[in-house]
Amino acid sequence: MACLGVNIDHVATVRQARKTDEPDPVWAAVEAELGGAHCITFHLREDRRHINDRDARLLKETVATKLNMEMAIAPEIVDIACGLSPDQCTLVPERREELTTEGGLDVVRHAKAIGEVVKRMKDQGIVASAFIEPDNAQIAASADCGFHAIELWTGGYAHAKSAEEARATIGKLRAAIGMAKSHGLEVHAGHGLTYRNVAKLAAVEGFSEFNIGHSIVSRAMFVGMRAAVAEMVRLLKENEPSQ
Ligand code: PXP
Repeated sequence: MACLGVNIDHVATVRQARKTDEPDPVWAAVEAELGGAHCITFHLREDRRHINDRDARLLKETVATKLNMEMAIAPEIVDIACGLSPDQCTLVPERREELTTEGGLDVVRHAKAIGEVVKRMKDQGIVASAFIEPDNAQIAASADCGFHAIELWTGGYAHAKSAEEARATIGKLRAAIGMAKSHGLEVHAGHGLTYRNVAKLAAVEGFSEFNIGHSIVSRAMFVGMRAAVAEMVRLLKENEPSQ
């Protein structure tokens, strides 16, 4: 089945609401792994609004599955990533005023700078992934930059206002998967996925990783992280494409 990456940023968001030491996102990562997560994802933002450098360091030391660091291509963050050496880095756009990552990275426009970052990651043995929208030019540019994988922005699907619109966005994602595979790219998915909407995407052939944060952390408030993750793993498994 596809890998479930659990994004634990919002555990740190709650901690930062009081600038105290609880809840600890590192503890959340352990609980997520015990619930069946295949990967732990975190975003070290330039403004450190949730995950901080201490969290990143401890996650690197303690995560037993796969560690995926979301990050902007800011030089300070790239240096930290290369020093930390997580299994995978997913390059994302970052704007200070946004609530969460909105839309994909413009790999076409920033190809030169992004290509240099990807080269540093590869030299370090880090898998590089580009968070992009399902757009042919962005996919081709990601392949040209040397990325191993892309993570397709699923916000268009998640925010669809009708079943018809949702179907159309799935069509676009399928076409993007085909294009990415023809370039030899691995394909991940993320943004806005929830217990209610994940089934239709889990059934799409070609995604090897789903990164899900807000919905899992929200459910964890009521049932605990372990149970919340186990439920999402079950949904991915029950709806995976038939072999
Ligand atoms: N993938 C990427 C690249 C993201 O930036 C985010 C949000 O941090 C997610 C997945 C998870 O999105 P959500 O919190 O909506 O599940």
